Formats: sequence, C-alpha cells, structure tokens
Amino acid sequence: MSADVYPVPAAFAASARVRRDDYERLYAESLRDPDAFWSKAAQRLDWMRAPTQVKDVSYALGDFRIRWFADGELNASVNCLDRHLATRGDKVALVFEPDSPDSPGERITYRELHQRVCKLANALRSLGVRKGDRVTIYLPMIPAAVVAMLACARIGAVHMVVFGGFAPNSIADRVGDCGSKLIITADEGRRGGKAVPLKANVDAALKLPGTNSVETVLVVRHTGGAVDMQMPRDRWYDAVVDGQPAQCEPERMNAEDPLFILYTSGSTGKPKGVLHTTGGYLLWAAYTHELVFDLKDDDVFWCTADVGWVTGHSYIVYGPLANGATEVLFEGIPNFPDSSRFWQAIDKHAVTIFYTAPTAIRALMREGEAPVKKTSRKSLRLIGTVGEPINPEAWRWYYETVGDSRCPIVDTWWQTETGGILISPLPGAIDAKPGSATKPFFGVQPAIVDANGALLEGATEGNLVLLDSWPGQMRTVYGDHQRFIDTYFRTYPGMYFTGDGCRRDEDGYYWITGRVDDVINVSGHRIGTAEVESALVSHHDVAEAAVVGFPHDIKGQGIYAYVTLKQGIAASDELRKALVQQVRSEIGPTATPDHIQWAPGLPKTRSGKIMRRILRKIAENAPDQLGDTSTLADPSVVQSLVDERKDA
Ligand code: WT7
Repeated sequence: MSADVYPVPAAFAASARVRRDDYERLYAESLRDPDAFWSKAAQRLDWMRAPTQVKDVSYALGDFRIRWFADGELNASVNCLDRHLATRGDKVALVFEPDSPDSPGERITYRELHQRVCKLANALRSLGVRKGDRVTIYLPMIPAAVVAMLACARIGAVHMVVFGGFAPNSIADRVGDCGSKLIITADEGRRGGKAVPLKANVDAALKLPGTNSVETVLVVRHTGGAVDMQMPRDRWYDAVVDGQPAQCEPERMNAEDPLFILYTSGSTGKPKGVLHTTGGYLLWAAYTHELVFDLKDDDVFWCTADVGWVTGHSYIVYGPLANGATEVLFEGIPNFPDSSRFWQAIDKHAVTIFYTAPTAIRALMREGEAPVKKTSRKSLRLIGTVGEPINPEAWRWYYETVGDSRCPIVDTWWQTETGGILISPLPGAIDAKPGSATKPFFGVQPAIVDANGALLEGATEGNLVLLDSWPGQMRTVYGDHQRFIDTYFRTYPGMYFTGDGCRRDEDGYYWITGRVDDVINVSGHRIGTAEVESALVSHHDVAEAAVVGFPHDIKGQGIYAYVTLKQGIAASDELRKALVQQVRSEIGPTATPDHIQWAPGLPKTRSGKIMRRILRKIAENAPDQLGDTSTLADPSVVQSLVDERKDA
C-alpha cells in the first residue's frame, strides 16, 4: 500500500455492517452468481408479487435489453412508508430544518408522512392523474417535495423533478419533452434569506411553446408571497388536499414500470430524460444507502443535496425512507446566516452521518477552522462526499477539521444514470485514500479502456467503463431509446461508457479524474457545453460561441466562453453582462459563465470542427501545452486568443 492510507478505525470496524473479509467474499459472490446474489438482496423490499426472474441483460447492440426482477410487482411508496408503520410508525422520518435557523422546523413521523402522501395521492387521482402520467415537481427543499414524489409513486405517476434553480426555459423544455399533465410548485422558495419566484417561473414557462400538455398547477403556500392564480388551471395545494382520506390504495407496479424521469446534461443537444424503473432502482438506493453509510436504526442521516438532483432522489427520498431512517431535510445553504450553519445543524439534530459535496467543503474550508471548531459535532460518526473528484487537501480538511480525525470518509462515485453509488469505500471494510473513490460496490464491474476500447490491466489510466449491468441502472432516455443506446453503449460496444476518465493504482483503487466528454462539472452540477453555447448564440449580437471548462478553486470547474460577435458589433462590458444574463435566464444561475473572452475567430480544423482541446488549454492559461496546431485551418487564430487571455 502507498503511504497515504487512512485505515478503517478499529472501533468503527468492530460494529460495521460490512467488515474487511465480508467485502471480498460478498463481492466475489455477486459476480459469480448474480441471480442468487440479487434475488437474496431483493428480499429487503416488500413485494406484492415476489420476482422469480432476476437478471435479464444484454449489452449487445443487436439484442439489447436491461431488465431486472421483470415479473416482480411492488409499490415504492409502500416500501418507504406503509411497511414501517407497524414497527416504527412513531419514529421521525423527516427533520425539517428551514432556511432560517430562527424559523420553526418540523419533525414528521412515518405515520404522519404516510398520511400526507396518501392525501396528496388521492388528490392527484381526483384531478385525473393516472398510472404512467408524468407529473412535474418544481419545489423548494421542504417536506412537500418528498410528499409529492412519494404521492406520485403511490399512484404510479412518473415524477419529473426540476431543480428550483432552473429558469422558465429549462422548465418548459423538460415539461414539453415528457408531456407532463400536472405541475406541483410553491408560491416561492427561500434560500439564504432570499425569495425564489417559483410560481412566477412556472407561469413564464407555461407561456412558452410545447407546454400545452399541462392541465393543472398545484401551488403549495410556503412563504405566503403574492402569486398570480390563473383559474381554473391553478389550484392551491391545501384546498385540494384537505378533506382527502388519509388512506390511499397503492398502485401495483411492475418492477420495470417507470418510477421517475430526471433530466441531465450530456455532450450534445438538450438534456436527456434519464428514466429509472421501480424495482431495481429502489433496491439499489436502499441497499447502497444501508451499506455505504453503515446505517443503523438510531442514526440521524443528513444528505445536503437538493431533491432536484439524483442525489436527492436516491439519498433523501428513496434510500433512507425505504430503510426507515431518520433524516434531516435542509431548505437552506451552507453559508447562511453564516458558515457555521452545517455544523450547528449537526449539533442541533445530533446528526450521525453527513453527506455533502466537495464544492461545499472547499467553500467552507476557505473560511478557516473557527466556524467549525466552535461547534461540537461529537454526534458524527461517518461523513461522505459526492458529485466531483475531491482534492486531497479538501479531503484532509474534511477528515481532520470536520470529522476530528475520528470519522471515516466515503467518497462516493456515481451518476444520474447509475441510480446510486457504484464506487465507494464500505467504511468498515475498505481503507481510504484521499481523492480515491476506492472500490466497486457489489455487482459492479468497472474497467479501464484506451481510446480504442481495449481493456487495460493493472495500474493504468484511461476511460472508465462498466462491463455489466446492476439493478439501479437507467433503462432508457425518455422518448428516445436509440439515443440511450448511442450515448452509452456505442462508443465501446458491449460496455457502458461513463464519460469519465479514471486511474487505477497498484492496490486496485479507482481514482476518477473527471469528464472526458463535453460536459462541465460545476460545483457537482452537470452542464453541457452545447447548452451554454446555444444560449449564447441565441443573443442577436453573437455569431458563434464555444464553451469549455477550466479549473476553479471552489467550484471544481468553471465555465469559460469564447464569443465571436457579428460583423460591426462592438465588444463592451455591457454586452458581456447581457450575455451572462442571457445564459442565466435561458438555463439558470448554475450555468453562469465565469469568463467571457471575445474571440475574433475560433480554432477550427479544415473541416470546420472547433478544437476544444486548444480552447481548454488557453482557458487554463497553459499556452505552452497547446500541442499540435498544424491541422488548424488558420493557426494564427490561436495566437490572438492567447494574447487576449494574457490581458484578461
Ligand atoms: C458525474 C455525474 C452522483 C450524483 C451527483 C452527480 C462526477 C460524481 C464523483 C466522485 C469523482 C464524481 C463524475 C460523474 N462525480 N461523483 N465521488 N468522484 N467524480 O451526478 O450530475 O449525474 O454527474 O459527476 O464525473 O460522471 P451527475
């Protein structure tokens, strides 16, 4: 082993769910006989009809299929609620921590959550929502968001959550693509003391073309801010939910029936509707949540993600609730009212397991130790990260300063497409190395290939692929199955391509190095360069735009845009501001460009392809590493961009 290893603490290992020898044994079993392994694992769920079929998968392009537990029947909301009522009905499911620490929070038991979900599910049915219909959820991080997702699951409606930071255009694209019938939103959200105009954004989205499928908008009264209600389309949530019975017959769902769609950015085109199904996804979320976080009955779990991202789906809603856990639901942000907020909330709710993003850790690290050290954090026993590679310096700060060198760290690698964690330490079994996601979870077969798809053995570096399926894998791109196959299974036939670069060390540990496609990871959020480019060129003064990522101290990657203006248009600071605003209003604040550089021309090959490799190096301010520029149509373009960058 290399020197920089943090062994599993003996005290932690002693009572861990999975210990050192178990990991090797169970991992080997999971590959040797997947049907036996997963049919046993699936017994953790409550089935209305137990599956007799387990794995039915072929990645072969001519004979492609991914099916798990295909004859099983179950309901996800029953698994997250009803089955806990007899044993832990009075256990707290959700601890709601509002944006302002001075506002009253809420502690919602499983029984109470079950009632709220049933009432909304009945209300949705009364509004004509049926099994298979798509429902859009555009809500702040409040209990109603969890209730809405589970109410959809209860009646077999497919939820499609849109992150509250997305702009009207992004809402409209998604609503239009999946043909939602109903939207659940709130008057406003609240983040860091500021109001977010959710209902107004929905109103603006529904004025855009392609959104005619929407019949009803349910509005949760959250801040009490004024909103424009357009009758009969808009209905107050309370008015339709009050008076509904607190029991609701759950829909019997096939394991392969869709549970949700969640849009995510890729290298090309508009975001794709990643579709997850009921049985395999739920099993994956629950099983990984229990083992990766070493969950025990008295734990208080806190995942700081938003339900608008897959992390919130799997590790706020489905995993923890299927496991009957108590968890914190946080409406706010890490630095409001000050940068002690996370640590104070950990003390307030005696949080034992804390799961956050490297970008948050880096931002808080910049504030120094004092805001952390003035809190106790003695309840913590395990801490985790997700979303992007964590630099070893931030890892150590998290370990020493936040975890007091006592709590193991789980650095969990996964994707919207994977449904849940695929590579991560099991904290009682696998020693950590700062910056490495370490080893694959049961059933997961990572491999590293070169550009031609040849498998590389031993310590090596290349592109990360997965050789076989796991139950939580996405099943299709909504409405475009061919795009699913082309995006993930055509680059390296017979394998799932992750889009990530990866190194494997001499101990067989995996180190994710970041995206190798045209996807930028900004603070753990995926942004497609093509989306930002299309927002920029939709401005009437712009002729052409090229967008790349560049290293950013806090965000991991920032967004760097090269913009060529139309003939006769003068560059100015006002125009730069207008373009930034254009991107924010087309996509949302997460896609805000950090830099816009005026480009008289862009480096292109003779066939007209923009050479992003060169633009990335210029953005990184590494003009000495431009590599071969001889294939460019006009090499002088590069020098002018480099000169301009120096001045920037
Ligand atoms: C991409 C997926 C997984 C939920 C949140 C993001 C990057 C994710 C790690 C990690 C290094 C990571 C990858 C991946 N990523 N976790 N622990 N170490 N990189 O989901 O938006 O689908 O993004 O995030 O590049 O492909 P997502």
